Amino acid sequence: MRAVDIIIKKRDKHELTAEEIKFFVNGMARNEIPDYQVSAWAMAVLLNGMTDQETTDLTLAIANSGEVLDLTGIVPIEVDKHSTGGVGDKTTLVAEPLVASCGLPVGKMSGRGLGFTGGTLDKIESIPGFNVNLTQNEFIRLLKYEGLVLAGQSGDLAPADGKLYALRDVTGTVQSIPLIASSVMSKKIAGGARGIVLDVKVGTGAFMKNLEEARQLSRLMVAIGKLSNRRVVALLSDMNQPLGKAVGNSLEVKEAIDTLKGVGPADFTEHCLTVASHMLVLGEKAGDLDAARIIAENAIRSGAGFEQFRKLVKNQGGDVSYVDHPEKFPVAPVVRDVLSPESGYLSRVDALTIGETSVEMGAGRAKKEDLIDHSVGIIVHQKVGDFVEKGQPLFTLHAKDEISFETARQRILSGYAWSSSKCEPLPLFYEVIQ
Ligand code: URA
Repeated sequence: MRAVDIIIKKRDKHELTAEEIKFFVNGMARNEIPDYQVSAWAMAVLLNGMTDQETTDLTLAIANSGEVLDLTGIVPIEVDKHSTGGVGDKTTLVAEPLVASCGLPVGKMSGRGLGFTGGTLDKIESIPGFNVNLTQNEFIRLLKYEGLVLAGQSGDLAPADGKLYALRDVTGTVQSIPLIASSVMSKKIAGGARGIVLDVKVGTGAFMKNLEEARQLSRLMVAIGKLSNRRVVALLSDMNQPLGKAVGNSLEVKEAIDTLKGVGPADFTEHCLTVASHMLVLGEKAGDLDAARIIAENAIRSGAGFEQFRKLVKNQGGDVSYVDHPEKFPVAPVVRDVLSPESGYLSRVDALTIGETSVEMGAGRAKKEDLIDHSVGIIVHQKVGDFVEKGQPLFTLHAKDEISFETARQRILSGYAWSSSKCEPLPLFYEVIQ
């Protein structure tokens, strides 16, 4: 078999066999297939799609490209959550410590920034020393003895996803239902989670732009989960505006810390409590969502969730003093408010414009070897439906220099719209698919 023939077959819109997919994925994981062929294949998949059977075969091939953890006997039941990618989405940093502090073990395999969306690994690495590159044994040890672990794809776990993910980020091949579904589900299967809450983002700042696409992706992931004997719930959530206020790596970590202390933005806190509640139900820590909600709220109120986050940072080599004193995070050279040029009700705070601008400011990558700047980003002060006065701070930019500030200011303002009549706030969630 040759990689080029598999690329040509997909280019010509034919269905790949399980053997062909396995050959390609294993070649990719072992670095036997060069980046240019993987990129060409990913573009062919993006343009021509995959059948559900191909997507399932791709998911299993990626999951099996490394070890697949069997956690039976290690923890009673492990749950996990995964977002399909959004702007300002730091939910993992809050929901997972909350759930773990309620006695439900969480082993999370996260990703880096992808396209205009941020990645949990990049965010958590704002904390000096935090190590996301864990071996299989380290992952299992932390899960068993500490109840919470946050890692990236490694040489051991879903290595093919690590390779493909980094290439998709910089080759315009992110927005593909089969590639997203297989990327998300392969990591969840390899990580051994029995219960999985999928946070499927819908809107301008998501890869799924409308509810129909989000439903299609959700149904596919739920079906793949079922085939692999996992319990999966998909929550379709809004991503037309950023989640919470902070966009950018260390800014988001600070917001997550505030939220764990009970002083985070209302929309983000609500979002995290909902995700955590679904995880607690899947993990059989609560009989229903109302009971789970009370448990999750208590974990914020008592400080147990925050303590669990501190422990996570400490266990993975991070400098806990940054959690205790978030003012220690390096501050970008230019930090300045941008004032509202008009009075009115906000009818648009465009997540895509804000996400793309944050990447341009240095919070994401243009090439896969690019280093990211953890300090830059945006703090959004109001949301759709809020009334703003002309001259009131609309957002604060944390920029690396004056040129970046000015470019970002203009670009982000172009994503705002004001209305003289009242606008409804955007919903947080649209529907649940299980
Ligand atoms: N999250 C992932 O892990 N993969 C994707 O492709 C998108 C979001």
